[in-house]
Amino acid sequence: MIIGTGYVGLVTGSCFAEMGHQVFCLDIDQEKIASLERGILPIYEPGLQELVDRNKKQKRLHFTTDYAIVQQAPIAFIAVPTPASSTGRCNLSYVESVARKIGKEILAPITLVNKSTVPVGTADSVSKWVHEEIAKRGLSFRCDVVSNPEFLKEGAAVQDCLKPDRIVIGSNAAQATALLREIYAPFQINSQRMLVMDVRSAEMTKYAANAMLATRISFMNEVARVCEEVGANVNDVRRGIGSDARIGPSFLYPGVGFGGSCFPKDLQALIATAEEAGVDPLLLKATSQVNCLQKERLGEKILRYFAMKGGLAGKKIAIWGLSFKPDTDDMRDAPSLHLIQTLLAEGASLRLFDPVAIPNAQKMLAHSPSIEWCQGAQEAAKGVDAIALITEWKEFRSVDFNSISAEMRGKVLFDGRNQYSAEEMQKRGFDYISIGQQDFVSRTS
Ligand SMILES: NC(=O)c1ccc[n+]([C@@H]2O[C@H](COP(=O)([O-])OP(=O)(O)OC[C@H]3O[C@@H](n4cnc5c(N)ncnc54)[C@H](O)[C@@H]3O)[C@@H](O)[C@H]2O)c1
Repeated sequence: MIIGTGYVGLVTGSCFAEMGHQVFCLDIDQEKIASLERGILPIYEPGLQELVDRNKKQKRLHFTTDYAIVQQAPIAFIAVPTPASSTGRCNLSYVESVARKIGKEILAPITLVNKSTVPVGTADSVSKWVHEEIAKRGLSFRCDVVSNPEFLKEGAAVQDCLKPDRIVIGSNAAQATALLREIYAPFQINSQRMLVMDVRSAEMTKYAANAMLATRISFMNEVARVCEEVGANVNDVRRGIGSDARIGPSFLYPGVGFGGSCFPKDLQALIATAEEAGVDPLLLKATSQVNCLQKERLGEKILRYFAMKGGLAGKKIAIWGLSFKPDTDDMRDAPSLHLIQTLLAEGASLRLFDPVAIPNAQKMLAHSPSIEWCQGAQEAAKGVDAIALITEWKEFRSVDFNSISAEMRGKVLFDGRNQYSAEEMQKRGFDYISIGQQDFVSRTS
């Protein structure tokens, strides 16, 4: 069974069902479970709706809010939130609550598998919490706790889950390892993808992976800043270094800073872990600091541009893309939120569009007369002084700038993701301001 039916839990549960397992997805959110029972997904994830529909129909995928179901499960995967606390440390209260609920319910041995991203040592804590609850009932069962960190990417989660690059299993118990090998066997028919290690190394692997990716992004954002100052073009530099096989082309894109529900909080949690262990995490702290600066950068560029035009008060800006990355509706810690607050504080009014994240964005942005919600990229650009591209959804690549510009009040594009060619935009009469290359601003503007 899967406990926590969010981005990770629902995708994992559906993929296990797709591979032929009987899966119960449990969540404490009754509304979410009721919707899922009616076939309505709480999240947008390409390919997930079909997977859920098919496996529900074939009676392999079930939804519940009833913890008593753990009594029938030989194995339970935990996929509940592990947000940052106010100090940056990982808040384990959701995981503890799950462990204690399981301890109160089970009547037979169980293997618990932690898919939530948790600090080194959490498996020991989970084991302690479960056994405390079992002992309170005067009982005693074996309960192995395994770490199986999740590496799926929102927007490609179903594919990542069905065809993972690797399956990391941290286990100190041979019986539990054997059970996981059996469960994951259908995912590895073509190639062996399982890496078995001790629990602490598996817990650490997840944080190290996210910190490495975040560091690459901050590295490129810093290189982009230098490029702007010295007259180099970061797009060319990126290609130049990415073609080196030792570096590789992935995760070398400068932009508006990283956000989302994982990188920022996982980086903070690893910093906290390092400091508690007596290690000063200089590089991790720099990665975080560079990201804080980068989140300000596009806002600063917009402010600077409009400073010569009487400031932002009364100006109208279209924002293209709100989710923290394309192909997801996830707005958690999205860089767009930061920019939106900056622009509103300066008196701008905004026309916002995202292909799927508007409902979630509406929940996070207080109702404001300065925000208009739009149905498309072209509609958002109507009557605006500028467009700011924040999330590089594919559909923004092929917009018709000729007809869009005819309806704009000003003609400037702030490209937070370097999606367009500066020369092309200039030919179309746009001022074009991006990341890590020279601004193209016409003298008349
Ligand atoms: N989202 C990602 O891309 C991703 C990728 C890899 C790892 N992770 C990690 O996986 C974990 C889950 O992330 P998510 O994005 O799926 O979170 P989420 O918020 O989308 O889903 C978590 C679900 O857990 C439920 N829940 C909370 N307390 C519960 C309880 N006591 N019992 C049962 N259900 C409970 C919530 O109602 C929610 O539906 C986190 O640790 C996260 O860091 C996330």
